[in-house]
Amino acid sequence: MQATRSPMVEAVTVTLNPAIDQTVVIANFTVGQVNRVEQVTSQPGGKGVNVAAALADYGHTVGVTGFLGRENDGAFAALFAQKGITDGFVRIDGLTRTGVKVSDPAQQQTTDINYPGQAPTPANLDTLSHRLGQFHTPWVVVSGSIPPGVPPTIYRDLVAMLIARGRQIVLDTSGDALRAALEAAPHIIKPNIHELEALVGASLMGQDAVVEAAHTLLSRGVQMVVVSMGKEGACFVTAGRVVVARPPDVTVQSTVGAGDAMVAGIVAGQLRGLPLTECARLATAFSLDRITHMGVGLSSLAHVNALMEQVTVDRGA
Ligand SMILES: Nc1ncnc2c1ncn2[C@@H]1O[C@H](COP(=O)(O)OP(=O)(O)OP(=O)(O)O)[C@@H](O)[C@H]1O
Ligand SMILES: [Mg+2]
Repeated sequence: MQATRSPMVEAVTVTLNPAIDQTVVIANFTVGQVNRVEQVTSQPGGKGVNVAAALADYGHTVGVTGFLGRENDGAFAALFAQKGITDGFVRIDGLTRTGVKVSDPAQQQTTDINYPGQAPTPANLDTLSHRLGQFHTPWVVVSGSIPPGVPPTIYRDLVAMLIARGRQIVLDTSGDALRAALEAAPHIIKPNIHELEALVGASLMGQDAVVEAAHTLLSRGVQMVVVSMGKEGACFVTAGRVVVARPPDVTVQSTVGAGDAMVAGIVAGQLRGLPLTECARLATAFSLDRITHMGVGLSSLAHVNALMEQVTVDRGA
């Protein structure tokens, strides 16, 4: 992205702490032994990158920003070029972190090895804020964890800056970053049930408790709270409505990125002006497409449309 251009897109996603997701297949993986790798796959990842890929596959124009280590950004640049995504990532010194998943089909176990993320400098943060502000877009998705050395208030500050510029925000993060960002009143948030429980400091048993917790967030200026609950589906709550979307039985390949796909579906629903029930169906279909296929982005529009028909939606009690 040229520093002087102001790209126009339907949505921009922000990923401050992306990762290269590497899966290494080792049968009978044993600690303290020499282990032979049977197969390796590596793909660019990070929550906002996943959201952008799904939105682009659904036909939307998308931009991405955040931080990428300049020494290993090739796979990201290739993905953005392949999907026609406008690359607004700020390159910083060093390497983007890698997350290694050691998958052991023999023992049916997965071992995670997560490299630390790269710490951006204050100057890098200024560049990011400037670049994000330059995008002409109605929607900005802010998601994922915060890299080392960056204050947990960063999302609050970015969201406030974006709202002042008239952008609508979808926020998908957790812990202190989520708590602080709520002060800036993002339009839509998508906590999973565990993130919501941590936020409100209570365990939420049953739909009424979930809806009540969502309402406390609406009272603080959020316009839609989507609480995802894994295979139980998701609860879409606005000031006037509650819609519960339940997925059909599917054969799960991997649940990694289910939430990111759901966020992409929520944005697609907003861009298309869908009513809440249809938005809930579409977002759930995006998540189901994600978990029934490997790779980045959507498998096909036909599959998403077919899944949409299988999602049950009802108005909550
Ligand atoms: N096992 C499953 N079976 C059917 N649907 C699922 C399953 N797991 C996830 N989903 C779908 O994906 C949506 C999001 O899943 P989940 O609540 O696990 O998100 P998350 O914890 O935010 O995920 P992520 O790890 O991507 O952040 C669910 O609301 C549901 O529609
Ligand atoms: Mg999530």
